Amino acid sequence: MVDDVAAEGAELVAAELRAALERGGAASLALSGGSTPLALYGKLVDADLDWARVHVFWGDERLVPPDDPESNYHAARESLLRHVPIPEANIHRVQTELDEVATVADYAEQLRAFAQADPDCSSSWPLFDVALLGLGADGHFASVFPGSEVECLVPVMAVDADYEGRPARRVTLTPLVFNAARHVVFLVTGGNKAAAVANALGPEQDPERFPAQRIQPEDGRVTWLLDSAAAAELE
Ligand code: 6PG
Repeated sequence: MVDDVAAEGAELVAAELRAALERGGAASLALSGGSTPLALYGKLVDADLDWARVHVFWGDERLVPPDDPESNYHAARESLLRHVPIPEANIHRVQTELDEVATVADYAEQLRAFAQADPDCSSSWPLFDVALLGLGADGHFASVFPGSEVECLVPVMAVDADYEGRPARRVTLTPLVFNAARHVVFLVTGGNKAAAVANALGPEQDPERFPAQRIQPEDGRVTWLLDSAAAAELE
């Protein structure tokens, strides 16, 4: 069930971050929005981590103020970040109070600056140790929606979202960034996601209609953590 998946996800994330910390330097985590990961964030509070060296980013953000209940930053702060000793400087939120163009440019610069400090990274975005993703019932992840342009040349973009009445205007990382991650973890629960999961993992390849198929990390791994309801239509 959801709690079991959250517990497994928290253990996986903590293990990956600990492994990164043991390699030396910082550990980096891209957080997902939506409601599914909140239980995982709550369990991550108790993880034994050197938070002083953990850096968090967001896979996407709604263009609302940071204290808005619809803000992914707000949700992560309330469920995780305010409960752990993570330095403010390690919290790389999307600066949604700027105008949209400046918000995108600022986030891209935050990504570049962090990547530059990683001797193993030669791109303008981090090699996230873990990138957490949810999946919409329509098959979207982050704010990468069905029908959107498959080829992307930029790490960050502003998009219009039309999903469950959630805030329309978003900023999202693109597959360029997720596919550079060391480990992408999809966390998906609920029967309303079963068709989207089956399409994403099914034999029919159509990345335009099934955006999660765009997640093909060059060197990294992809793990799908599903409850039985979300996995119900898998062959
Ligand atoms: C967001 C997320 C989005 C989310 C899916 C699933 O900002 O809403 O980035 O991609 O992960 O819509 O949302 P739930 O976990 O709430 O079903």
